[in-house]
Amino acid sequence: MHIAITREVSPAIGRCELTHLDRRPIDVTLAQAQHRQYEECLTALGCRVERLPAEPDLPDSVFVEDTAIVLDELAVITRPGAASRRPETASVARALASYRPLHHIQAPGTLDGGDVLRLGHTLFVGQSGRSNAVGIDQLRALLRPWGYRVEAVPVTGCLHLKSAVAQVAPNTLLINRDWVPDDLWADWDLIDVDPAEPFAANALLVGDGVIYPAAYPATRERLRERGIRVRPVDVSELIKAAGGVTCCSLILAARP
Ligand code: GLY
Repeated sequence: MHIAITREVSPAIGRCELTHLDRRPIDVTLAQAQHRQYEECLTALGCRVERLPAEPDLPDSVFVEDTAIVLDELAVITRPGAASRRPETASVARALASYRPLHHIQAPGTLDGGDVLRLGHTLFVGQSGRSNAVGIDQLRALLRPWGYRVEAVPVTGCLHLKSAVAQVAPNTLLINRDWVPDDLWADWDLIDVDPAEPFAANALLVGDGVIYPAAYPATRERLRERGIRVRPVDVSELIKAAGGVTCCSLILAARP
């Protein structure tokens, strides 16, 4: 059993941060409906969804993943790289406090959860426009006593590490090699995104299910050919805000 913390889409999402995308109008009502369908996928995969109320003044607040790193032993509340997003962490910290002891990334460190790819006891952390070396060093120091290793990964051309690489099966990663080095994943089977779908590497593995954006049919076919069946979800409006399927939840194992 997992708990998935989500947050309703903000009515202000049209004013979201954008770094690598041009701004396009976002249909808020449609975004909210798509987000509900995403939550239904999480429920179907065995999660108990705990939805936080919308934050009318925080445009990016649906992307809760960026606000925390949750492990079995503790949670680290981040300090997001975009200043406009820093107020998002307080309410997530309140929600997580019931489940885990909390630690915090401190200034001048910055860290976005979208930059953190956990594979077993190694956390690969993107050195992106949002997560800096100080934040990564702080995370390393916080997690070392728990036996976790933190590896910094250069990221170019996209927002977060998990825009470029995500886990889709126990030993398989989906990757866009234009945005992240490919020599770090020697022990993993790699599936490349279709070249026509550079944003297609973001997928959410929950248990043995994969939630995947409907927008990337060619890459989905590559996954199918490798025996990976996905649960497609239409998140077109969230994609316009540079959101992916990992960004919209914080998933934690429920303690017995
Ligand atoms: N709009 C998502 C972000 O830039 O943080």
